[in-house]
Amino acid sequence: MFNKDRFIEDCVRGVAEGHEAIRELMAEAVSDRAGILAEFGAPEHAGLTPIFRSPALTVINFVWAPCMCLMPHNHQMFSVVGIYAGREDNIFWQRTGPTIAATGARSLGGGDVATLDSDVIHSVLNPIGKMTCAIHVYGGDFFAPPTPRSEWDHETLSERPWNVERVKSLFREAEARFGASTG
Ligand SMILES: [Fe+2]
Repeated sequence: MFNKDRFIEDCVRGVAEGHEAIRELMAEAVSDRAGILAEFGAPEHAGLTPIFRSPALTVINFVWAPCMCLMPHNHQMFSVVGIYAGREDNIFWQRTGPTIAATGARSLGGGDVATLDSDVIHSVLNPIGKMTCAIHVYGGDFFAPPTPRSEWDHETLSERPWNVERVKSLFREAEARFGASTG
C-alpha cells in the first residue's frame, strides 16, 4: 500500500544512488494508483504541490488541468515521472542553433514511469478532458536549480529564463478555462 511518508523516506535514501533507484521506487509506487489517490485525495485543483524539498531531492505532486499544455523547458537535474491518473503526452526537444526542434514524443498513462536526464528539454500536454495526476521526483532542488533553467516560448520557440511564477499561473489559467467551459 502506497504511503507518502515512506515513499519520501525511500527517495531520500535512494537519490544518492541515482535515478535508477528512484525509478524503481516510482514503479512500485504507481503500481498502487488507488493507494496514491487515497493518500493525496481526488484532485480538485490543477497545480504543482511540493511534498518534499531539499538541495538533493524534490518530490512534487502534479495535477494537470484538462487539455493544458506546458511550454518546453529543461530541469538541469534528472527527473523521474510516474503517472497515477490520466495521461501526460511528452514532446522532447533538442537545441538547434538559437532555437529548438522536436525530436520525439512519449505518451505516459496510468502506471507508466519515465526517467529524464538532466539535459532533457520537454513540453507536457494533458490531452484528456479530466485532471491528470503525476508524481515527479527531481534529483536536486527543483525550485533553486544549481544551473539556471530555461523555458522556450511555445509559439516562437525562443529561449528565456525559466520562471516558476509563470508556470504556476499557467496552471491557474488552465483550471479557470476548464471551469469556465464546464460552467
Ligand atoms: Fe518538466
